[in-house]
Parts: sequence; structure tokens; C-alpha cells
Amino acid sequence: MRISVFGCGYLGAVHAAAMASLGHDVVGVDPDASKVGMLASGRPPFYEPDFAELLASSVAGGRLRFTADPAEAASAEVHFIAVGTPQRDDGGAELSYLEEAVATIAATLAPGSLVVGKSTVPVGTAAVLADRIEEAGGRLMWNPEFLREGFAVQDTLRPDRVVYGVRDGDDAEAVAMLDAVYAGVLSQGMPRIVTDLATAELVKVAANAFLATKISFINAMAEVAEVVGADVTQLADALGHDARIGRRFLNAGVGFGGGCLPKDIRAFRARAAELGVGDSLAFLGEVDRINLRRRDRVVQLATEMLGGSLAGRRIAVLGLAFKPDSDDVRDSPALEIASRLLEAGARVTATDPQAVETSRTRQPALDYRVVTADALADAELVILLTEWREFRELDPEEVGRTVAELRVIDGRNALDREAWRSAGWDYRALGRG
Ligand code: UGA
Repeated sequence: MRISVFGCGYLGAVHAAAMASLGHDVVGVDPDASKVGMLASGRPPFYEPDFAELLASSVAGGRLRFTADPAEAASAEVHFIAVGTPQRDDGGAELSYLEEAVATIAATLAPGSLVVGKSTVPVGTAAVLADRIEEAGGRLMWNPEFLREGFAVQDTLRPDRVVYGVRDGDDAEAVAMLDAVYAGVLSQGMPRIVTDLATAELVKVAANAFLATKISFINAMAEVAEVVGADVTQLADALGHDARIGRRFLNAGVGFGGGCLPKDIRAFRARAAELGVGDSLAFLGEVDRINLRRRDRVVQLATEMLGGSLAGRRIAVLGLAFKPDSDDVRDSPALEIASRLLEAGARVTATDPQAVETSRTRQPALDYRVVTADALADAELVILLTEWREFRELDPEEVGRTVAELRVIDGRNALDREAWRSAGWDYRALGRG
């Protein structure tokens, strides 16, 4: 099928390449000419495992093109919308990119074609957009995306469920068209749930709200554990054996960041308030506050460990990305903590296997090192903030020979505490006594 994907960020670029790998003829559309240039030559503009190979093979195979000119997408039978919906200053979602994409598609739409929204939107948005698309002779579906950065390719080609939001809950022709697009995915037998538009929009934000709540729940337990001398990692293991609770997303530490969870819970709250059900989501404000307090806690712990002041102290920060296997530093707890240590007068050397360049763009003032050993050299305190495998596997004996003082904060509960302690380190973690 002929497919277009509007918006070529983490979501859209991966989706476009994945659709091409299923055998479709795909064009990705994005106004950013430099991004288009890179993608068109098969080079990923961001780090995502397995994406480089998928992109290069699809571009080379002639099934995938990228352009800044939306007119090149006019002949598509199915248009996917994957543009960003970033946070506005008041917490709500900025919908101007989405509005623009819909206006562009509506202006050139071939009659009978299908428009499929994938962007995360405030509930009620799709119904308004559906009117516009129908006036232009097309039909709109909402098909939220649940991919995780770091697993984007895998999650796109093997999602754990597929949700189709359709107008009036019963548009057999549109459903059949999207089934044809996803035939190579659906053949693996994952659940496919057809809902109305509002339910499909809600599934997405509710899922992210639940995940954020789960993380803040365990981080709230970490706050209690710190006071009573309990161990939140053992608590999480013991809770997780209850299948109703489950161990995943119960890792206590510096909390959630990225381009999705933080902004999505804020936008969801803002939308609920507009709808007159603000009280129903008031708890998400607490989820947000617990999450942000964990960042304060690391700065406080560092200050305590260094005797009350950070001024002039040498701190090595390991990790800048919001999570491992990503170069994304949007709302990253790690980058924020590193910046706050710097503001407090510390001499911070920061490193990350992939996120040094993305961090530099947002925070040019930090002293970045590409090689981990360079960041560690002579440090009086080491702080692990993103649990990349290469940091988890550091040898405490070896690191001990590089640094000036054996002090470490494990901001992700990712290091082997006993190994670090037996190598002589003053090891501190979040939520562990
Ligand atoms: C999240 C959702 O997991 C995806 O399902 C969704 O599609 C995506 O948002 C989106 O809306 O596009 P992502 O932002 O890639 O995916 O990252 P997550 O794996 O959810 O991690 C989010 C943050 O939570 C990271 O900073 C991570 O370090 C933190 N986290 C995760 C914890 O602090 N503890 C945990 O136990 C798990």
C-alpha cells in the first residue's frame, strides 16, 4: 500500500521504516530539512537500537523516502500522523503541529483515503479532527502507539496490543484498511481492540498515567524506606511476586523522565480539569511531585556526603539520557541533577554512551567527557543516574583506582551494593536505608 507518515521523530521515523519493512511504499514527511536529509540517506538522526539497520535497508530497497514537501504524500492511501504534542507552559498539550498536519493532509487528500492518528492527544481531539477529514472526503481512525524508546523497532513490529479508535465504533471499511496495513504485524496474533475515538485516545494517556503512578508509588515507598532504614529493592521484589502487582516498573531511583510520561500526565490533568473532572486526576499531581522530589534527594545526598557544600567539589556523573539505550534527554532526571550540581558550585564531569551531544545542546555549561574513565578521573563522588549496561558492569576495584575518594550514589539501584562496599566504597542509594 502507499503510505505517508507525517512527523519523523522517534515515533514517526521508526513507524515509517517499520511500515516499509512490511512491504509498503512509504514516504516520511517532516518540515525539518536536515532531519529529512539524514533519514533520506539512511542515517538515523537519533540513537535507537536496531533502527539504523532497518532504515538503511528500507531506504536502499527503494520502499522508503523522506521529504519536506507534503505534496509528495498526496497519492498515499493511508496517512499516519506522528507529530509531536509537546507540553505548553500551562501543562496542556501543544496541538499546533497536529493541526498543521491535518490541514495539510486535508488539502491534498485522495478521496476515500484513511488518516490514522498516532500522536498522543487530549481526549476529544480526534472527534474534532475527524470532522475535518470527513469534509475533505477521507476518514479518520485513532491508533495510539505504545512503543518504548530503546525498544522502538521491536515494539512497532511486535506490539503487545493494537488499538483502533473508529468513529461510531463501527467503520468496517476503515478497520479493514488498517488491518491490511498491519497484516504482517497482526499475523503474530496479538490482541486487536476496536473502540470509539475517545476510548482509543484514553487508552494511551491512561497507560502512561498508570506507569508513572507505579514508578512514583515505589519512589514514595523509597522515601519511607529511607526514614525507617528499610530496603526498597527488596520491598519491590517481594511486592512484585504478587502477580496482581508485578515487578516491572517498580524500580525505585531518580524517577521517570523523557518526552512522554512527564508531559502526558500533566496534559491529562489539564484536560481533565477542562472537562470538569479535575478531581479524578488530582492524584497525578502527587505522582509528579514525588517524581521531582527524587531529583532533590540526590542533590541533598551528594551535599551530605561531601560534608555540607558542593562548592568546588569534583563529581563524576554517569548517565545523562532519561533511560538507557536512548540519546533522549528531554526532561531527563540525570541531566537536571547534573545541572543542579553544577549550579551549586560542583565541578561536574558528565558522561553518557550516547547522550553527550543531545545534552550539550540543552546544557552547554557542563563539562562533558566521552570516555567514562575521563569522567571518573579524580572524582570525590561518583553518581550513577542512567543505568546503561556499561555502568552497571563497572568494576568497583578498577574505578576505585581512578577516583580521588571512594564515594558513590547509585541513583538507579543498579549497582551491586555488596561488591562496591567490599571494594571499600561508601555506597549510598535511594530508598535503601
Ligand atoms: C513510555 C511508555 O512506557 C511507552 O509505552 C509509551 O509508548 C511511551 O512512553 C510514549 O508515550 O511514547 P518511554 O518514555 O520510552 O516509554 O520510557 P519508559 O520505558 O516508560 O521509561 C520512562 C521513564 O521511567 C524513564 O526515565 C525510566 O528510567 C523511568 N523508570 C522506568 C523508572 O524510574 N523506574 C522503572 O521501574 C521504570
